Amino acid sequence: MSSENQQRALRPRRSCLAVPGSNPRFLEKAQGLAADQVFLDLEDACAPLAKPEARHTIVKFLNEGDWSGKTRVVRVNDWTTEWTYRDVVTVVEGAGAELDCVMLPKVQAAAQIQALDMLLTQIEKTVGLEVGRIGIEAQIENAKGLVNVDEIAAASPRMETIVFGPADFMASINMKSLVVGEQPPGYPADAYHYILMRILMAARTHDLQAIDGPYLQIRDVEGYRKVAQRAAALGFDGKWVLHPGQVEASNEVFAPSQEDYDHAEMILDAYAYCTSEAGGKKGSAMLGDEMIDEASRKMALVVSGKGRAAGMKRTTSFTPEEA
Ligand code: GLV
Ligand code: MG
Repeated sequence: MSSENQQRALRPRRSCLAVPGSNPRFLEKAQGLAADQVFLDLEDACAPLAKPEARHTIVKFLNEGDWSGKTRVVRVNDWTTEWTYRDVVTVVEGAGAELDCVMLPKVQAAAQIQALDMLLTQIEKTVGLEVGRIGIEAQIENAKGLVNVDEIAAASPRMETIVFGPADFMASINMKSLVVGEQPPGYPADAYHYILMRILMAARTHDLQAIDGPYLQIRDVEGYRKVAQRAAALGFDGKWVLHPGQVEASNEVFAPSQEDYDHAEMILDAYAYCTSEAGGKKGSAMLGDEMIDEASRKMALVVSGKGRAAGMKRTTSFTPEEA
């Protein structure tokens, strides 16, 4: 864990909205949606012939749009194409001050993150932006990326998230299903468990966020919710949304329930009180019928952090008599 990563703000990313960089109508509409993050896409949602113009469209929308309250990300093309450097140069030179992160798809090795890091640093120096402010999101989309996910997670202090790309990943390992994110028929357990856990372990080891990728059956909100719950239950921080109808489900699934949020805040207050001078400097205490200690505080911090990031307000307050 690097000290730089400790200092990088963990931004809310319950819902990460994909918007094709070549579609001004969608870029306009996205600004009014309640997604925590938007990413303006130059990769697979943008046809090859449309990419050169889309770079400039994205610059214009970053500079002139109202993205307040949202993390602003651009997904560039991967390093095996001829487009990556021009994507980064045009977007960061033109709108670097209005950009929070660059998302790099199909990452397979730490060197690909380092190359992006160096390019960003040169542009920041050239145009007078704060060096290192723009973060990196790395998509894991094939077997090699997953095998190397630890070194990828550690590759740069700019790293903020590891993102699972199920569509490309399923194709890359020959998974026997065409429905992205759904279980392949004939397998009796969860075919994604290892992949998601592997990504989550790498992310948590390096204090990064773990984000689940798209669910393409955009009219099936219940299907979306189920797949999102699978990732949220393990500890993932958020999931892509491809359609306005998925935003609310994602925000709900990745935020704690009101009851859990209130409970977490109560644990934090009770533990702070019982370890204080006034509370008798105790290492553990009772909150109602529940014994709490330092480990309870850590668990509560995760839930309260997610709730606070989601803008939740507590509905209960702590009094010392409860501890
Ligand atoms: C996303 O990029 C995916 O391939 O699922
Ligand atoms: Mg992909």
